[in-house]
Amino acid sequence: MSKNREPATVAAVDAAALEQEALAAVAAASTPAELTALRTRYLGRKSELKQALRNVRDRETGMTLNAVRERLEDAFARREADLDRSELDRALSSDGFDVTLPGEELPVGQLHPTTQVRRIVEDTFLGLGYEIRDDREVETVEYNFDKLAFPPTHSSRSPRDTFFLADDVVLRTETSPSQIHHLEAREPPVYMVSIGRVYRRDAITPTRFPIFHQFEGLAVDRGITLADLKGTLLHVMRALFGDDRRVRFRTHYFPFTEPSIEPDVSCGVCGGTGCRTCKFTGWIELGGAGMVDPRVFENVGVDPEEWSGFAFGCGPERAAQLRFGISEIRPLWSTDLRVLRQF
Ligand code: DAH
Repeated sequence: MSKNREPATVAAVDAAALEQEALAAVAAASTPAELTALRTRYLGRKSELKQALRNVRDRETGMTLNAVRERLEDAFARREADLDRSELDRALSSDGFDVTLPGEELPVGQLHPTTQVRRIVEDTFLGLGYEIRDDREVETVEYNFDKLAFPPTHSSRSPRDTFFLADDVVLRTETSPSQIHHLEAREPPVYMVSIGRVYRRDAITPTRFPIFHQFEGLAVDRGITLADLKGTLLHVMRALFGDDRRVRFRTHYFPFTEPSIEPDVSCGVCGGTGCRTCKFTGWIELGGAGMVDPRVFENVGVDPEEWSGFAFGCGPERAAQLRFGISEIRPLWSTDLRVLRQF
């Protein structure tokens, strides 16, 4: 390489070899800084070429060396422009920001259908002045059954129907124990809704799942009647299913209400004329309800002569099925986003 060459003399410079070497080095330079160093080496004041030019004695050698110098100047200028352009390209692609590029789509979540129903129920009852409460899922037999006046022989007390964690501890089978907790904690008048999970030893079917939700309502005041219950249920059904729903009551039995009823809502699929969804009855059952049984009041120290009240318990999963037209309960307990994204 040039460093090892003899001190430059006109005769010693092999112009062609020098040009080749310089051109190859220029082509290989990959940064502007490298190119600057090469320019000093091949075209700088102390470069072989410049020294040779200074020592030129004959015209022919001068012309040859000047031509080499010009071609090298040219090659340096072109390479410099190239490197500047690729430097700009690199900067644009790595730290540049192209405002014309389409934005990245961020996944947006949505509320689970059961949660949507829960929020509607909570909003509706908060709007009516109810308190929302949340109670334990692990419950004592005393609160799950005894204080709600379940007779000792009631089938729900059997380990075949209910998950027992100990002789006197169960996974609550309904949200009704909230009525007891609330009446023990507050003096009437009370207006309360409690929403949460409940557990039953049911086999899984299109409409049954061993874990599900309930919303429990309780209103205790002076002079509360069945008409208040009907009006309240109609109000929440309209919030859930739309304005043109009708509500009807069928008589039923629950240990903690007297009279006990089951509220039906007119079928939203057929408008009440009868279809497969409502089993051609025009009505869909939504839960249980009734007037609080005086024995329950006595169990919590509330005077049934002074106070009366209604209570109800409905299933948000059933409500979600009706609201969103979901024929099975199972997808509501699935974690498959392809299912849940549809609602
Ligand atoms: N706890 C009942 C059930 O799970 C539903 C129910 C019926 C709740 C009547 C009530 C009620 O508050 O008054 O089947």
